[in-house]
Amino acid sequence: MRTLRFIIEQYKANLGWFAIGMVTLILGSLVQTIIPIYIKLSVDAASPQGFNTDEGLAGRLALSALPVEMRQDMNFVLTCLGVVVALSLLLGVFTFMKRFYLIRISRRTEYNLKKKMYAHLQNQPARWFDTTRSGGIMSLMTSDVEAVRMMIGPAVMYIGGTMFLFPASLLIMFSLNTLLTWLALIPLVGLTAATIWFNPRVRKYSLRSQEDLEQLSARAQENFAGARVVKAFSREEFEIKELQDHGETYLANKLGQARNQAMFQSCIWGFSGLGVLIILYFGAVEIAGGRFTAGDFAAFILYNLQLYWPMIALGWVTMLFVRASASLKRIDRLIATPPDAAQVPGGFVPQAIEGEIEFQSVKLRYAPDLPLALEDVSFKLEPGRTLGIVGQVGSGKSTIASLLLRLIAPTEGRILIDARPIEDYDPHKLRGFIGYVPQDSFLFSDTIANNIGLAVRKAGIGNSSDAVIRNAVKVAEFEEEVLSLPGGYDTMLGERGVNLSGGQKQRAAIARALAATPTILILDDCLSAVDTDTEERILRNLKSETRSISTVIIAQRISTVAHADEIMVLDQGRITERGTDAELRSGGGLYADLARRQQLAAELA
Ligand SMILES: Nc1ncnc2c1ncn2[C@@H]1O[C@H](COP(=O)(O)OP(=O)(O)O)[C@@H](O)[C@H]1O
Ligand SMILES: [Mg+2]
Repeated sequence: MRTLRFIIEQYKANLGWFAIGMVTLILGSLVQTIIPIYIKLSVDAASPQGFNTDEGLAGRLALSALPVEMRQDMNFVLTCLGVVVALSLLLGVFTFMKRFYLIRISRRTEYNLKKKMYAHLQNQPARWFDTTRSGGIMSLMTSDVEAVRMMIGPAVMYIGGTMFLFPASLLIMFSLNTLLTWLALIPLVGLTAATIWFNPRVRKYSLRSQEDLEQLSARAQENFAGARVVKAFSREEFEIKELQDHGETYLANKLGQARNQAMFQSCIWGFSGLGVLIILYFGAVEIAGGRFTAGDFAAFILYNLQLYWPMIALGWVTMLFVRASASLKRIDRLIATPPDAAQVPGGFVPQAIEGEIEFQSVKLRYAPDLPLALEDVSFKLEPGRTLGIVGQVGSGKSTIASLLLRLIAPTEGRILIDARPIEDYDPHKLRGFIGYVPQDSFLFSDTIANNIGLAVRKAGIGNSSDAVIRNAVKVAEFEEEVLSLPGGYDTMLGERGVNLSGGQKQRAAIARALAATPTILILDDCLSAVDTDTEERILRNLKSETRSISTVIIAQRISTVAHADEIMVLDQGRITERGTDAELRSGGGLYADLARRQQLAAELA
């Protein structure tokens, strides 16, 4: 039902094209129905007994189009053949127009669907991507959309043609010879039985292999993305074997599909051959009895073939329909998920912000069945000040960063920026004031300049962007290395920036955040892969560069946060200590302990 409604929606949206497509489809079918009549007339005119004007429906239809005096003429045969050629050309034109407009609608549908899905995907919450395999998303965007397109275009086109051709051919066959028509229908019963038997089987194997293929490509995609891990753990053999197993079931299903298709094909040829045989034999009997002419006979065979095509098309079209319905259901499920509130534009649009950040008793639980990742976190950061956050792995540091960016929403409590709840702001505008250096410094496969200028390019700062980017790179202590690369700023990065070292990636990500000229800067453990000397220099640069920027600096190393105006120690989602470096060192808590150990490690190194 939903599928039908969807099809109708598409045609309604393209009513003009649909009308042209349908009119030419009907005209084409009409021409296809008329052509055999002229073949019949020319055959009859050429045969010794000639023709009479009492030819039943077909004869009367065709003869009415020709002047009476022409009918006895010897040129009549040529005239008829001329008409056949003209009609064939016309058929060509109609077929072209039918395909052109109907396929056009289906391509338009594909385009719109993909556009809509892509926009929808962009607005899914960050959490959604954590739990959805990207291989699955890709197959939704490709093979599922393709299935829907095939239904909107080719399926409807073929089924539309047969709906006209089948009854028209049958009607004319009856008008030519009733007995012979009944006899010709016998093999068609066999073909119908074969269709009913084989089609569900073909369909079953086809749908199964479709699923196999999706799993196969999802698996392969993940593998290629994690190629380094696969190699490092010598898992190639295992992965090849895994893929082989998937591949084998895929192959088995495809072979099952091919086997059933082949048998069905044989049935088509067998039954249509039987049909011709019956017509040949009984046609001859009828001709001998003077109830049938040679021309009737020729036309009859042509019409008979037109009965078989719809049966074949029907099976194919049902398969497309079933597949498209399943795909449409999956696509609907994606589109039906409401967009994340933190993604929808709208809300307060500030011209500038001060950069005051306040957390009021914030609690966060990632899922109902998970423990609290943050428990009662409260702090206030004045504009332009720096807050350091230290804690063990899993203590909730990155969670605080995600909350500030509205990538997740607090389970309880409030987060304010400039004394206004962050939910009040337009999410995109607010993020525009925030520079964020994620823990995993993800880079795109683009040039270094484009990666660092990510925010600049979007804002269209234009000519000044070069200076902004260069300055950001300088502050991040990355300039020397960028310039030493063969392409300098125009060096292309591999996927996820694979041709940079961990420390280089981190510095590129810092430069990217700075180039956005933020009012709030969040640095999430982004100096872990640079040596302490470079870290010191970067921190010094940041200090002079970010005097008016509210900075949240997250780290596991004490040295990274030591200079902060206030430092919080996070332990299992709770703030256990807070104060300045000096205060905490003398406090005798976790911070002092960490400081001692890291000091010792540094001395040993
Ligand atoms: N997307 C997520 N889904 C579920 N749990 C998460 C998610 N991200 C983090 N967690 C959990 O929340 C806790 C805090 O994580 P995180 O803030 O990343 O810690 P940190 O950055 O301090 O290492 C951890 O126990 C972690 O397992
Ligand atoms: Mg973290």
